[in-house]
Amino acid sequence: MSMIDVPTATKGHNKITDALAEARERFIAANPKSRGRWENARAVMPGGNTRTVLHYDPFPLTMVKGEGAYLTDLDGHGYTDFLNEYSAGLYGHSNPVILAAIKKALDGGIVLGAPNQWEVKLAELVTARFPSIDQVRFTNSGTEANLMALGAARAFTKRDKIMVFDGAYHGGVLYFAHRGMPVNVPFDVVYGTFNSTEESLAVLNAHAHELAAVIVEPMVGGGGCLPADREFLDALRGAAKRHGIVLIFDEVMTSRSSAGGLQQRLGVIPDMTTLGKYLGGGSSFGAFGGRSDIMAQFDPTAPGAMPHAGTFNNNVMSMAAGYAGLSEIFTAAEADSLYDRGEAFKARLNAIIAACGVEMQITGSGSILGLHCVTHPIRAPHDIKDARPDIKTLIHLEMMMRGFSYAQRGYMTLSLAMTDQDLDGFATAFEDVLRQHGDIL
Ligand SMILES: Cc1ncc(COP(=O)(O)O)c(C=O)c1O
Repeated sequence: MSMIDVPTATKGHNKITDALAEARERFIAANPKSRGRWENARAVMPGGNTRTVLHYDPFPLTMVKGEGAYLTDLDGHGYTDFLNEYSAGLYGHSNPVILAAIKKALDGGIVLGAPNQWEVKLAELVTARFPSIDQVRFTNSGTEANLMALGAARAFTKRDKIMVFDGAYHGGVLYFAHRGMPVNVPFDVVYGTFNSTEESLAVLNAHAHELAAVIVEPMVGGGGCLPADREFLDALRGAAKRHGIVLIFDEVMTSRSSAGGLQQRLGVIPDMTTLGKYLGGGSSFGAFGGRSDIMAQFDPTAPGAMPHAGTFNNNVMSMAAGYAGLSEIFTAAEADSLYDRGEAFKARLNAIIAACGVEMQITGSGSILGLHCVTHPIRAPHDIKDARPDIKTLIHLEMMMRGFSYAQRGYMTLSLAMTDQDLDGFATAFEDVLRQHGDIL
């Protein structure tokens, strides 16, 4: 779909830096309007950016339209969208069912300042689908959902500490790569090692009497799309139960893995679960839920109830769009079929990598995939050493210039709007890029 002229023959570059410099030049030359918008934005927003993950080298393209599986940028190029808003765009762009639900909700008034007719319907579906969720509360983001779940666990257990895993991402202020970020909420944390049962249980047992919660992604998402072993999660489940620690699964990204999330697919059921992304139908969304005795702390009819605030927690757009998506589109059968489609696509891309003989691999679970430029097994974020970021940038720019968008760090997802031809197109372009640059990859 791209209108950018991409050379078909290998240009004979032997050095990664030369190839990257040449790809950057072509990208810059092809996108003057996006570049101009970005330059203007730099005056009023640091780095021209209001969401770090949307920045990439040399500058991010401005998108002006999304329709079905496709995007159009400010310079008029078309893309098949494999980013899909970091998994929140499950339904594709402008799904008519979602659009109709939002329109109907807006026609009834945008800010009612009261319970509305959609929130309980969405809550009924969420509690029916996710095995661990007896009761649920809505928030505006996955970050908030995790903050509230951790707060609920700390209040419930009357303990302070939380156990997190190296490289985990639970939100902008709950980012645990490199032992945490300066902007993180100052929780008292101890670190387990993802997918390492023995090391993690040693930490858990050593702090058992002080731990309120263990929070884990059943597949590390932002940290590289690395699925947890069932045995690892099972061991955490058992240990948390033994010590009265609240086990929280962050399924903000993985909840699409089946009707009841990755927990249902793996058969490991936590005490609490956090959700986000597509469950608001593409509007801002988060949710936390779990065992009714933990959630009962928020019952405002009970004496001494804990507050859970949020002006837009039940905003009509997210509630109506989320309900329409779950009730009319993303059935259990659709969830399973998307998971299988993603697994098949991962295998196809890995077969292309093997056939091209390049040092790469695709990880992930179901319809959420990660591209890594190393060949050794990656089981945890710390295994992604020597990840060759220049190569990732080169492949990303080449794929963008062939009309396929995904995140430069190698993150991609499938949406329900994609056709088999869209997947074929990506696979063909990917092979073309690997063959064009085969000598340096
Ligand atoms: C696993 C996980 N948890 C939490 C979050 C935070 O969600 P939000 O961006 O809605 O705050 C994300 C976002 O990417 C995520 O992937």
